[in-house]
Amino acid sequence: MASARQTALRAATPIETADPFATDVLAGLSAKPKRLPPKYFYDAAGSALFERITQLPEYYPTRCELALLRDNAPAIASLFPPNCALIEFGAGSSRKARILLGAAATVEAYVPVDISGDFLQQDAAQLRRDFPHLAVYPVVGDFTQSFAIPATIATLPRVGFFPGSTIGNFEPHEAAKFLRHAGAILGHGAVLVIGVDLVKDTKILCPAYNDAEGVTAKFNLNLLARINRELGANFDLATFEHHACYNREQNRIEMHLASTKRQKVKVAGKAIGFRAGETIHTENSYKYTVESFQALARGSSWSPLKVWSDGFFSVHAIRNQESEVSSRN
Ligand code: AVJ
Repeated sequence: MASARQTALRAATPIETADPFATDVLAGLSAKPKRLPPKYFYDAAGSALFERITQLPEYYPTRCELALLRDNAPAIASLFPPNCALIEFGAGSSRKARILLGAAATVEAYVPVDISGDFLQQDAAQLRRDFPHLAVYPVVGDFTQSFAIPATIATLPRVGFFPGSTIGNFEPHEAAKFLRHAGAILGHGAVLVIGVDLVKDTKILCPAYNDAEGVTAKFNLNLLARINRELGANFDLATFEHHACYNREQNRIEMHLASTKRQKVKVAGKAIGFRAGETIHTENSYKYTVESFQALARGSSWSPLKVWSDGFFSVHAIRNQESEVSSRN
């Protein structure tokens, strides 16, 4: 329930409090150093650019993960309990889940959870045509929050799927928190299949985020274009540069947008000042070794079952050891 004071505040500051995007953007651009959450990359334009990234010669993760899933689908599916529900966290498209669904004939239901609803519904319709015996229940929502599992499939054993190394966007403590959250949703003894990009030579890592065609730069800059479109800001995209580099101490690719000059930008009615060379930190993409990911999993009450790797990318199957079942929804 909103208090009278909150209601009054909301009425006085329409843009800042109405929309979480506006709130997060203003908070991030007011922080020192400036930052923006990577989850906002994926508007329609950003999702199309990401799709192009996955096809770039330099961007190996998607190709490697698809090959690992295809080559090992029967082994992965053999870990699923019969008549289970497959729950995918942050399912952009069902492309990867389809590989598992094709190998696991007894999966009864598929629950893709994603914030972008339009795409989810379209994809669900096509899946129902391709897998006529599969119940498809898309859930529109933030997969880091709790969400309702439809009552008709609530009693089925659950298997989690979290591909794409999306876990790399989280700080390690947030990744641990997410794994516990997934455990609470999936239940004790559940299996989670998770794609994790590996630590490797910077000669391979850096070009993957600095492609020759400049698609990743466009993807990064689209965040400013989106802020212009949706929050009436006046970023001049020609005065910001895409920077991506590997931070060895933290095992992460960092993406930034660097202002080429001292300037002021208006965002949702607020003036934001930039020094020449000042950057907005837009993304972390953490890389793990097989062992460092397994240690993270163990620390969050998951035990490693099996791992498939090609030396570039890894797909882990882990089992939830958390016996707390009261939080299972
Ligand atoms: C979808 C978060 C895994 O970190 O590699 C690709 C996003 N950013 N190129 C990644 C991304 C720049 C991607 N994830």
